[in-house]
Amino acid sequence: MKLVAGNSNRPLAEAIAAYLNVPLAKAQVRRFADMEVFVEIQENVRGEDVFIIQSTSFPTNDHIMELLIITDALRRSSARRITAVVPYFGYARQDRRMSGRTPISAKLVANLITHAGVDRVLTLDLHAGQIQGFFDIPTDNLFSAPILARDIKERLDGGNRMVVSPDVGGVVRARALAKRIDAQLAIVDKRRERPGESEVMNIIGDVSGRSCILVDDIVDSGGTLVNAADALLAKGAKEVYAYITHGVLSGGAVARIASSRLKELVITDSIMPTEAVKVARNIRVISIAQLMGEAIGRTATESSVSSLFD
Ligand code: R5P
Repeated sequence: MKLVAGNSNRPLAEAIAAYLNVPLAKAQVRRFADMEVFVEIQENVRGEDVFIIQSTSFPTNDHIMELLIITDALRRSSARRITAVVPYFGYARQDRRMSGRTPISAKLVANLITHAGVDRVLTLDLHAGQIQGFFDIPTDNLFSAPILARDIKERLDGGNRMVVSPDVGGVVRARALAKRIDAQLAIVDKRRERPGESEVMNIIGDVSGRSCILVDDIVDSGGTLVNAADALLAKGAKEVYAYITHGVLSGGAVARIASSRLKELVITDSIMPTEAVKVARNIRVISIAQLMGEAIGRTATESSVSSLFD
């Protein structure tokens, strides 16, 4: 087995390599002067089972190109099988045509990865599970839920916990976590009654006196979380935490979270945390290295990946 890392999340790639006790393959993934991607794999990969570790996170377009070009290098170097390990799959939010004249970017990116020569994909908490079907190659969508559930159980009082989906679209994900930690479920129902009027947040479920845990796949601007936290506190919640798989945290998101009434935001390292994230007063990062490493190991030995979640 060989592990090759792109530049999107080197610390995670190193942690996965340490878990598997397999060193990262020697490779150069750098830029030409004009910022085009230059790749050179500096060891033999002929006949090898190769895993490329690369999140398609910010700068997304660059990281996608790195993944495609590394794949091309490996394919032309006669790797036996190439697995794209994509802990955060970007461009997932346009995954269907909600209105006319829009793309399905998630499908386009899946096509690019497949046509570059990837044989299988290993990813985590896809924005929508059906994106798996956009790849015509085997695709395993892992779940961070067991890791998040373990952390919640260690930190928050059992009897008082309530899992909250910040929107109606996230109910299935939130319900799965609620089941794992044996908690009730509430839902934030956002509605704009008339165009031009501000959004009204209704809470479905009684959250008064509860420790609420907002659950989502992505935190980007942080607006969804901060507004949901305010709405829950206005309805009498005791405190509000958030457990989110992918900390996209663009623009002023970290400052927005830090100055919010969220007690704590817990994210994973599917996206490499910035310095601002590392020092933020109420953001904590937990690692998926062991989970990804275990799934890679099982893929390499052709053993069950889904049983990781039984
Ligand atoms: C939306 O469908 C996602 O699940 C997240 O709720 C959304 O991306 C969060 O975005 P933001 O942090 O910018 O509100």
